[in-house]
Amino acid sequence: MGLLTGLENIVRCGEPLAMHAWFQLGGPAEYFAEPENIDQLVELIRRCHEEDVEMRILGQGSNILVRDEGVPGMVIHLSAPAFCDIRIEGRSIVAGAGALLGRTVTTTVNRGLAGLESLIGIPGTVGGALHGNAGTRSGNIGQWTINATVITTSGEICQRVGDELVFGYRQSNLDDLVILEAGCELEEDDPKALARRMQKQWIVKKASQPMGHQCAGCVFKNPRGVSAGELIDRAGLKGTRIGGAVVSDRHANFIVSEPECTSQDVLRLIDLIRSQVRDRMGVDMELELEIW
Ligand code: EPU
Repeated sequence: MGLLTGLENIVRCGEPLAMHAWFQLGGPAEYFAEPENIDQLVELIRRCHEEDVEMRILGQGSNILVRDEGVPGMVIHLSAPAFCDIRIEGRSIVAGAGALLGRTVTTTVNRGLAGLESLIGIPGTVGGALHGNAGTRSGNIGQWTINATVITTSGEICQRVGDELVFGYRQSNLDDLVILEAGCELEEDDPKALARRMQKQWIVKKASQPMGHQCAGCVFKNPRGVSAGELIDRAGLKGTRIGGAVVSDRHANFIVSEPECTSQDVLRLIDLIRSQVRDRMGVDMELELEIW
């Protein structure tokens, strides 16, 4: 049986990834799959595993930069309704990996469940948020997460609970191939007070960060708790441009892509920022953005 036999209706060849990434840059995926249910997803993973085809999971594309030459192997997009369900069970919320983080946050706030409201305004899916432990200075998703269902590279479905889940600053040990869904245990609170807290957070974020589709999230992690944005700003790099890639004037840890920008422009700007911050500020910065 060939790699795609029987899966033709869910797999496309040469899908341009630019339209699936916030930067709107980059080349195609060799194979691009949108499975409709878990059985199809597991079958797809098993086939790729057997045929040694590399797999990547795409969320909303808000924390990736796809290279201009595109990516080899299979890109799996969990966009079907089967992967995007959000349900409340008592004080917990259970969300599918493909559910948008924003919708998950507002669902909890409307139900008077506190914990996730500080995550408002962070783009992406629940799966992506868990993978990189998305958060703000006020909290992160990992601190509320009590269980996760994952699928391994060989297609086995497993549960991770309690101590098996380890979250650090913008990282988690959920490095299995697929995060399928996760549960967060929250605290009861007054929905009106919660909504006010969420709105406040949203206003601060909007005022301090560029929030559009022509950039992703923060490019670098904060080295040892120091704001990477502040370091890049103090190195005098706001507004620095390579081709169509520009260091944001609003927050220096964001790169904005202008018309005619290529991924190569962004990569060259990343190298420039990193070397200038090393030379001028004596600090090495690690990427938060994933390069595909
Ligand atoms: N600052 C500057 N210039 C800049 C940017 C920031 O001087 O260009 C200063 C600010 O004035 C402030 C300090 O740096 O005094 C900290 O700035 P901010 O509150 O924006 O926080 P940050 O450390 O730069 C982190 C997260 C953000 C998160 C904010 C708010 C990282 C890499 N960044 O940014 O997360 O939204 O706190 O909680 O952890 C992300 O991870 O993608 C992200 C955007």
